[in-house]
Amino acid sequence: MKIQYCPTPEAVPSSGQPDAAVVIDVLRATTTMGWALHNGATAVHVFAQLDALQRAAGAAPPDKRLLAGERGGQRLEGFDLGNSPVAVTPAVVEGKQLFLSTTNGTRALERVQAAPHVLTCSLNNLEAVAERLQTGAVGHGWIVGSGWEGGYSLEDSLAAGALLHTMAAALGSNPHHLCGNDEMIAAGALWQVWREKPEACLRLATHGQRLQRLGNHDADFRCCAAVNSLAVVPTQTHPGMFQLV
Ligand code: MLT
Repeated sequence: MKIQYCPTPEAVPSSGQPDAAVVIDVLRATTTMGWALHNGATAVHVFAQLDALQRAAGAAPPDKRLLAGERGGQRLEGFDLGNSPVAVTPAVVEGKQLFLSTTNGTRALERVQAAPHVLTCSLNNLEAVAERLQTGAVGHGWIVGSGWEGGYSLEDSLAAGALLHTMAAALGSNPHHLCGNDEMIAAGALWQVWREKPEACLRLATHGQRLQRLGNHDADFRCCAAVNSLAVVPTQTHPGMFQLV
């Protein structure tokens, strides 16, 4: 197995496909997707464009849909939810379809939508994703960070490195033997530096600083930093639609 890390959607190769693509947006889209599906949402539909989200949501039964939208870290006006992982409780999402658009995470997901297998990962579900990749006979994988408007994301790279080390431990392999590019090697080193204090890394990151400026997001940081607190693998079952399988 060789894993390439693409720190942003723009870094994804313009040609070719991996056996599987894993998209990471620790703060907060893929963390939120994991908790929403764990808490009983029947599906999460992801959209980079808001007009496409509104059209799709309009076709769903009103009592079975929730609109979740964020831009710049803040909830969009007129949406049921923003993008907080602690807001998608069972009481809110059980039995509902989520229609989600975020600043970067949903754009990253659309960028790799054509891959044979698309999964989402955060710090919460590293072991579950590593097991899926191992049992899925993945020979060549991409890990794609969501970044911020085309820029590098410390927190997404941290989780990419964490996934690399989790996969290496599961395979009994040296992590460097799994690395398909320098970016993957660097992400692995980042995890070795911060693995004992992931929340501090999230708060230090540019987007973590942005969220702290926007208000008290302590519960979000605790949730996003909780390593292996979830055993779910959000999986693309149809283009742009994620479920537990
Ligand atoms: C993103 O898409 O960049 C993030 O999910 C933004 C956020 O929810 O803070």
